[in-house]
Amino acid sequence: MLELTFLGHSGFLLSDRTQTLAIDPFLTGNPVAKRTADEVECGFLALTHGHEDHMGDAVGIAKANDANVIAAFEICNYFGEQGHENTNPGNPGGKIDTDFGWIAFTQAFHSSSFEGRYMGMPCGLVVHMGGKTVYHMGDTALFSDMALIGEIYQPDVALVPIGDRFTMGPELATRAAELVKPKIAVPIHYDTWPGLSQDAATFAPDGVEVRVMAAEDTLLA
Ligand code: NI
Ligand code: MN
Repeated sequence: MLELTFLGHSGFLLSDRTQTLAIDPFLTGNPVAKRTADEVECGFLALTHGHEDHMGDAVGIAKANDANVIAAFEICNYFGEQGHENTNPGNPGGKIDTDFGWIAFTQAFHSSSFEGRYMGMPCGLVVHMGGKTVYHMGDTALFSDMALIGEIYQPDVALVPIGDRFTMGPELATRAAELVKPKIAVPIHYDTWPGLSQDAATFAPDGVEVRVMAAEDTLLA
């Protein structure tokens, strides 16, 4: 089994009841978050890219938990400079075997920087844990190779940004989910701030079950 807990915006905790992986934990300054950074317990922490609304509390959480940080090479270097050496660097196209299963880095059309510094390629993350597969798209535009990612990894769950402006909006996100063909799609990266306001009902991919989650909601994959 795999349990997903939404942290708000793009953040999730994934747990197979033995291992816990945090993805993009942004809690401090996140208006929709319902827990604080010191309420996150995880042995692993993965990042899609270096932007503040994803990296957010990652350094503090990684240090507090001595979590293994799985992220782009440049992000891992940054963690090293912050005194956190427990890192597992990758880049798009690569897959890493872990104690919980594996994680693959996919392409995302976006940018990635932190405090003015280049943070490597932005990524999507495909996580296999508890016998289930989750595709966190990260921040991205629509691209036709999403169909190939769906075909190769056959995700049970896709986490799809719909906020528009910095990522796909609902219309393109609907097309994205139809390309990937997960069993369940969860809209993310919207309604965090006024500029990302969307009606989640307009994210309506054919043949895909949509689950709208609020912060701290859980989903059993
Ligand atoms: Ni971003
Ligand atoms: Mn973002």
